[in-house]
Amino acid sequence: MEFSIKTSSAEKQRSNCVIVGVYESRQLSAAAQSLDQVSSGYLSNILKRGDLDGKLESTLMLHDVPGTACERILLVGLGKKSEFAERQFRKAVRASTKAARASGSADAVSFLAELPVAKLSLRRKMAHLAEVSLDTTYHFDAIKRKQEASDEKSAKKGLKKLVIAISDAKEKTEAEAGLADGKALASGVSLTKDLGNLPPNVCTPSYLAEQAQKLGKDYGFKVTILEQDKLEKLGMGSFLGVTQGSDEPPKFIVMEYLKGKKSQKPVVLVGKGITFDTGGISLKPGAEMDEMKYDMCGAASVLGTFKTIAEMDLPLNVVGLIPTCENMPSGRATRPGDVLTSMSGMTIEVLNTDAEGRLILCDALTYAEQFEPSVVVDIATLTGACVIALGAHASGLFSNNNALAKELLRAGEVSMDRAWHMPLWDDYQSQLDSNFADMANIGGRAAGSVTAACFLSRFAKKYDWAHLDIAGTAWKSGKEKGGTGRPVPLLTEFLVARAAKVNPTV
Ligand code: BES
Ligand code: MN
Ligand code: ZN
Repeated sequence: MEFSIKTSSAEKQRSNCVIVGVYESRQLSAAAQSLDQVSSGYLSNILKRGDLDGKLESTLMLHDVPGTACERILLVGLGKKSEFAERQFRKAVRASTKAARASGSADAVSFLAELPVAKLSLRRKMAHLAEVSLDTTYHFDAIKRKQEASDEKSAKKGLKKLVIAISDAKEKTEAEAGLADGKALASGVSLTKDLGNLPPNVCTPSYLAEQAQKLGKDYGFKVTILEQDKLEKLGMGSFLGVTQGSDEPPKFIVMEYLKGKKSQKPVVLVGKGITFDTGGISLKPGAEMDEMKYDMCGAASVLGTFKTIAEMDLPLNVVGLIPTCENMPSGRATRPGDVLTSMSGMTIEVLNTDAEGRLILCDALTYAEQFEPSVVVDIATLTGACVIALGAHASGLFSNNNALAKELLRAGEVSMDRAWHMPLWDDYQSQLDSNFADMANIGGRAAGSVTAACFLSRFAKKYDWAHLDIAGTAWKSGKEKGGTGRPVPLLTEFLVARAAKVNPTV
């Protein structure tokens, strides 16, 4: 979809579709009012009949309205005027893009950016408009038959051009900056969704490594792939214990985006990259096992975030680490009862081979030490228990540093990609006691997402660290099954705010 910015009034648009808002109860926004005037009350008459009250996300399409130059007018419900805030704004944008697309309009002019939203700058409104519109029109057809894919394209992917109207020409530069923010974010989100949605026989560890290399080439940052022999030399026995049942070679991806000052310590992002999680010898039940192709969404979110910040040319030092492999059962697979020696030297009794995410992450956390990080954030579809605790609305956030936790919570609020702070108290640590090694890899049924985080915390003692459990937020189940691209918005906002702090002029 292409975007452009325009300052002109609603009645003059020659577009396929003009989008204007209506508050509850039947209160016209400024742009809707001007359309109402030129059409001698056409809009208000229809509203009086009760066709649309203005409830948030409701829509009504009008055709050939007298006195106007456009083919269609789309009225979008904005909800109560007194309650119209950022969240409502995004919902109205989503509903309007969906309806415009369904109508078959090839282009549209949206007047939603003109709506006043409490505490929201034009720049952010524009960013939301671009991001939400691109998110709504996202369509995964990379692996459908060519004919079918193009049929869907012509039927559903109608909306090619979105013009966003702003009221003051002096604000064009600010509006353009917002548009660029939104587009950059959407491109990372889209990459993250694509990688999640690809089947596990395509999206293998080698495929992820290739994608990282391609990103590095496209945007000019360094990417190194550590192969099995190197991982053995490094002593990553825990990571290697997970991959050993699989015929796919493991990869350890290192991305170094160093666009900040040389002296500035990097933020290190670590993403779980299990391209398929069968559970290993502790095999998972069959139902919905296909969804375990999404077990690399932490990795995908790191790749997506790198794409977004590179697109923004963000002046910050960021290192991305992605341990990636499959978790398969086989004659060579790790058994329950096996003891693995991690890169840190600590030994781990594997009581359940399905708790594999922490086993690959712990070695990556140790590897992170050499970068002398300012902070390390790992992102992982780590536990089913987190889905039970928080559902699909918030990612679980754990941290050994309260200031860092606050920073991430704020980034989640601002980007509308929320996380919720969970405890990491010492009280839980004893659940990981083992009779035969320094620790066990599981801590029993109680507080499963907390004990998983406790396990990781033992490998993150040398720096400020946070862990995002995205098992509930990274993809949707059911009929609209698919990757969500989360938490790329949260991570991007977190990094943008950090860059602003170290370079106050940005
Ligand atoms: N990848 C799963 C976590 C998961 C489960 C994410 C369901 C999304 C939906 C992880 O590797 C796993 O299997 N965790 C186990 C841990 C248990 C064995 C302690 C779990 O959550 O059941
Ligand atoms: Mn598992
Ligand atoms: Zn897993």
